[in-house]
Amino acid sequence: MKTVKVLDKSFKLYIPHDKIQEHIARVANQINTDLKGKDIIFMGILNGSFMFASDLMKLIDLPSQITFLKLASYQGTNSTGSVKRLIGLNEDISGKTVVVIEDIVDTGITLEQIQKQLIGYEPAAIKYATLLFKPNAYKGKIDIDYVGIEIPNDFILGYGLDYNGYGRNLADLYVINE
Ligand code: IMP
Ligand code: MG
Repeated sequence: MKTVKVLDKSFKLYIPHDKIQEHIARVANQINTDLKGKDIIFMGILNGSFMFASDLMKLIDLPSQITFLKLASYQGTNSTGSVKRLIGLNEDISGKTVVVIEDIVDTGITLEQIQKQLIGYEPAAIKYATLLFKPNAYKGKIDIDYVGIEIPNDFILGYGLDYNGYGRNLADLYVINE
């Protein structure tokens, strides 16, 4: 079994690149069917979604825009410390169908923060696409429209996902070695 060492942890091959592509193709087909005729802007959430967004977009055959946003830790007086501000939006998304592209949805807290902020820009609709979804960890209320792969509550790395900033470059997905 192929393994990699990233910082202090060892990971083993979990989902190879070609399998990932099969799941992305299915998601792309769903989007191509569902969102025909809509004024679409895809919104990749950096950093983790860059590989997924890139491969997904190559299979989208609808007229659409794409932009990338980042969640930045709040620099202010907010007491919770966990509130993140969505930065980098230069496009007017009012009246458009936004498709949020995430690498992974775990508890769903991140997705909720994104939703709260996007609603303020008055898009016509917000759809959610994630490559990976941990249903057993999910506590959110948002209905995720497009899911690539459902996975158990294990720590995953590669294909854009990181461990302390490393491992995003790996073409396959890896799972932590217990
Ligand atoms: P949530 O807010 O709990 O849904 O967490 C989502 C964020 O946590 C993702 O955007 C990732 O940055 C990170 N994350 C959650 N699970 C993993 C994992 O298995 N590997 C790497 N990052 C993860
Ligand atoms: Mg992320």
